[in-house]
Amino acid sequence: MKIIRTPRSMTAWSERLRREGVTIGFVPTMGALHDGHRSLIRAARLRCDALVVSIFVNPTQFSQTEDLTRYPRPIARDRALCREEGVDVCFEPTAEAMYPEGFQTTVTVPALARRWEGEARPHHFSGVATVVTKLFGIVQPDLALFGQKDYQQTALVKRLVADLNLGVTINVRPTVREQDGLAMSSRNRYLSTEDRRAATILYRALQAGRQAIEAGRGTASTVERVMRQTVEQEPTARIEYLTLCEPASLEPLEHVKRRALLLGAIRIGAVRLIDNVVVAGPDRRQRASRPGHP
Ligand code: PAF
Repeated sequence: MKIIRTPRSMTAWSERLRREGVTIGFVPTMGALHDGHRSLIRAARLRCDALVVSIFVNPTQFSQTEDLTRYPRPIARDRALCREEGVDVCFEPTAEAMYPEGFQTTVTVPALARRWEGEARPHHFSGVATVVTKLFGIVQPDLALFGQKDYQQTALVKRLVADLNLGVTINVRPTVREQDGLAMSSRNRYLSTEDRRAATILYRALQAGRQAIEAGRGTASTVERVMRQTVEQEPTARIEYLTLCEPASLEPLEHVKRRALLLGAIRIGAVRLIDNVVVAGPDRRQRASRPGHP
């Protein structure tokens, strides 16, 4: 496995392979790799000839209150995982190489970034949109893979790729979960044993919301109440948002007809957890159960 540190060498590598007709798969990460990343890497490996994983803790997507310096950086373990999974290149640029003196351009996706995570973390998504656009320019992948756990991020990346004609196919893979349902995340390692137990409440709340929809109680007020009441059973959990929204626009939904997105963020102690599930509404379920429906 090659380790490339400069944007220029990374682009030169990709350009050479593309000239030879090789397809390039790309998994952008901030390191601290876990089984969620592993599943993205495996899915990319199956779909492309060559595979690049970037490991870059992007400073511009952290706020001043979030501790950039504390973000885990187990680089030896990350490289070992990449080697095990047959990654061809680990791209590990420095912040200075990504944001050299004079850097000033930012990418924003205003409507998709406004709500939910965007409210709690105002500059986060312009940091993400900017670095993802830069990484796509540097790596020049045919296909890039993202996890559904960061649902709002995936919606925003799809939008910017379409709006800016970036020509990269985006593949969103299902959230990988621990056995008790907790979505895998690099932040889970900050949870104490007791908080780790409590953390499953978010997924349980989303499941309770899903059950309400499937039982025909698909109004926002009911679904959101059911989710809130579930989280409230866990005294250490603080709700940031628990919402029913439209999966493409992420705008709040009053009533589920076709597909709906249940989106949530809670805090357990100092750790902020996010998760989501997509649910088929009654119209979709009816169509799927009609004879002849594939
Ligand atoms: O999801 C992440 O790890 C990051 O937001 C990403 C996409 C690598 C951009 O820094």
